[in-house]
Amino acid sequence: MSHALLRADPVAEPSASDRLTDKDFARIAALVSGEAGIKLPPAKKLMVEGRLRKRVRHLGLPNLTRYCEHLFDEDGLVREFVHLVDAVTTNKTDFFREPEHFVSLERSLLPELLSLRRRGAKPMLKLWSAASSNGAEAYTIAMVMADLAAKGDFQFAVLGTDISTKVLLVAERAVYPVEMIAPVPPEKQQRYLMRGCSPHRHKEARIVPELRSRVGFQRLNLIDSSYPIDRDVDVIFLRNVLIYFDKPTQEAVVRQLVGHLRPGGFLILGHSESMIGTNLRLPQRSPGVFQNT
Ligand SMILES: C[S@@+](CC[C@H](N)C(=O)[O-])C[C@H]1O[C@@H](n2cnc3c(N)ncnc32)[C@H](O)[C@@H]1O
Repeated sequence: MSHALLRADPVAEPSASDRLTDKDFARIAALVSGEAGIKLPPAKKLMVEGRLRKRVRHLGLPNLTRYCEHLFDEDGLVREFVHLVDAVTTNKTDFFREPEHFVSLERSLLPELLSLRRRGAKPMLKLWSAASSNGAEAYTIAMVMADLAAKGDFQFAVLGTDISTKVLLVAERAVYPVEMIAPVPPEKQQRYLMRGCSPHRHKEARIVPELRSRVGFQRLNLIDSSYPIDRDVDVIFLRNVLIYFDKPTQEAVVRQLVGHLRPGGFLILGHSESMIGTNLRLPQRSPGVFQNT
């Protein structure tokens, strides 16, 4: 009797030429860390090989050795870097991920931000999802803000930025597999999502145009020495990206982002990253929520 635990099906081992040599992995890791801040310790070698093999196939190259020759010996890097970053970034995200932050936004951050504005004027609130991945975080922010704006006297705009062009294309299209929208509360699904089918008959949902018009996306590398972004942002979401950076990079990115907040504005870090804000001695309002003084 066969049993999956007793007799694994034989899986073809990649040939030596379809693996990364330690030297090539070290070159790729140095490049990715220098240009994008993302650490690639040796433990990630298998993951990187797996992801780059897809790219190798897409380019019609025979194996990873040939890919590295193309990158490093034939000046392929200039055009390939964008795809290399797409391949090595981890883009996992969800609608309403770490939902307490959106409850905070609704119940305490927004009322406080509005109270700081001049009476009588209809303020424009600016929110930034600074590692937006495919847009789920930016559209979640927009759904929460649109509900509040319908009852209050303010306008809002959301910006999503990411280093990976692949995820930004998804964000701009704003079409998601229907399984992904499960965390969106039913009344928001009704107001902000349209349902349809892909050409392959997969069920999908698209963000409605009224919400899409409030959300813009652009490519931005958080480790750049300056950002072409306004300096009076009300709330910056910087969640689940600092974990990929080393400590000095984490602190530099947080400091630089705080410089884009208006006085009294908020920086929101992922739960596993909130120590970084604490280390910088920013006043903490609730778990992961820091205020610019
Ligand atoms: C795990 S996702 C987090 C998405 C979202 N913030 C969330 O919490 O669900 C991390 C994102 O950070 C992006 N990223 C990694 N390094 C970056 C950099 N140097 N500049 C901008 N974005 C970066 C990745 O491309 C990826 O989409």
